Amino acid sequence: FTAEIDASDIEKGTYPHYMLKEIDEQPFVIRNIIQKYQQENGNLKLADDIRRAMQETDRIYIVACGTSYHAGLVGKQFIEKMAGIPVEVHIASEFGYNMPLLSAKPLFIFISQSGETADSRAVLVKVKEMGHKALTLTNVPGSTLSREADYTLALYAGPEIAVASTKAYIAQIAVLAILAADTAKAKGLDIGFDLMQEMGIVASAIETLCDSKDEMKKIADEFLGTHRNAFFLGRGVDYYVCLEGALKLKEISYIQAEGFAGGELKHGPIALIETDTPVVALATQESVSLNIRGNVKEVVARGANPCLISMAGMEEEGDRFVLPAVHEMLTPLVSVIPLQLISYYAALHRGCDVDKPRNLAKSVTVE
Ligand code: G6P
Repeated sequence: FTAEIDASDIEKGTYPHYMLKEIDEQPFVIRNIIQKYQQENGNLKLADDIRRAMQETDRIYIVACGTSYHAGLVGKQFIEKMAGIPVEVHIASEFGYNMPLLSAKPLFIFISQSGETADSRAVLVKVKEMGHKALTLTNVPGSTLSREADYTLALYAGPEIAVASTKAYIAQIAVLAILAADTAKAKGLDIGFDLMQEMGIVASAIETLCDSKDEMKKIADEFLGTHRNAFFLGRGVDYYVCLEGALKLKEISYIQAEGFAGGELKHGPIALIETDTPVVALATQESVSLNIRGNVKEVVARGANPCLISMAGMEEEGDRFVLPAVHEMLTPLVSVIPLQLISYYAALHRGCDVDKPRNLAKSVTVE
């Protein structure tokens, strides 16, 4: 694929920060991905060799760092549920120490916005030496991870300048969904819904959320303004988005933030709840709604200040924010948006350097 970078893509324009601009670009990113990956006949545009590799493998190993690792956790659900292939997701830096027992026909998927992350590259070099096949999903065409893998898929998110990743994360999730749906089709499996049509609905939902900035600013100011810590609670796929929400908040606002699986609350985290401790909870899945609401009651009983974000159709009185409804498999593409915006406004409120947080780099090229 070729780079399609326009000078205007890397200007901030009227935006005060790249991060806000990149958050606002997300509906366009989803529409761009739909356009790039959809053929006129409705089929998906994936190279035959990628399709073959996906059909031949008996187990997929996703390897990534940071936000890309969080996208991999969501991608695992797509590939397992749609295409019926078992998936393991690994943090690149840990792979060398805790190398899993590999299956007979492994396929490695590297996810990397920059395509240059040293820890991910070290794993790629190792698995290539072992003779395994690798596919890289990256936002930077021609990057090291893209050149050194057997196959590559572009994220088409456009240049991401802010250190905290936003639009690349949703692009990674969208492309993983496309890869899963394409593999399902090649294997003759019915995923039960039209992915591209549902992604169109997602793009409109993200647009609505990007128009809710005043509300997000209010939540950030009131809820996180003076606190030193915050917790994110979710179950199922919401838990994975909570990990990303907590990472975003700690990266740019320096609030100590952790994402927990709702069921783990009583195994430790609840000891940290004090009067007014901010707790963000996500409830986008029918199957977890009751239990996560139970968790919120448990923290409220201990004095926490809750911010429950639910999805239209399953909202209840007292929910702090209701997301527009999207297909249940695609909720991470929308539930992450308020978390990105809340982090952005929390960082602003605290006078932090949003685009260039202390001690962090956009691309980490040392192991
Ligand atoms: C750095 C960035 C993160 C990113 C991670 C992985 O820590 O600050 O935003 O998620 O590296 O980067 P990659 O380019 O491999 O996705």
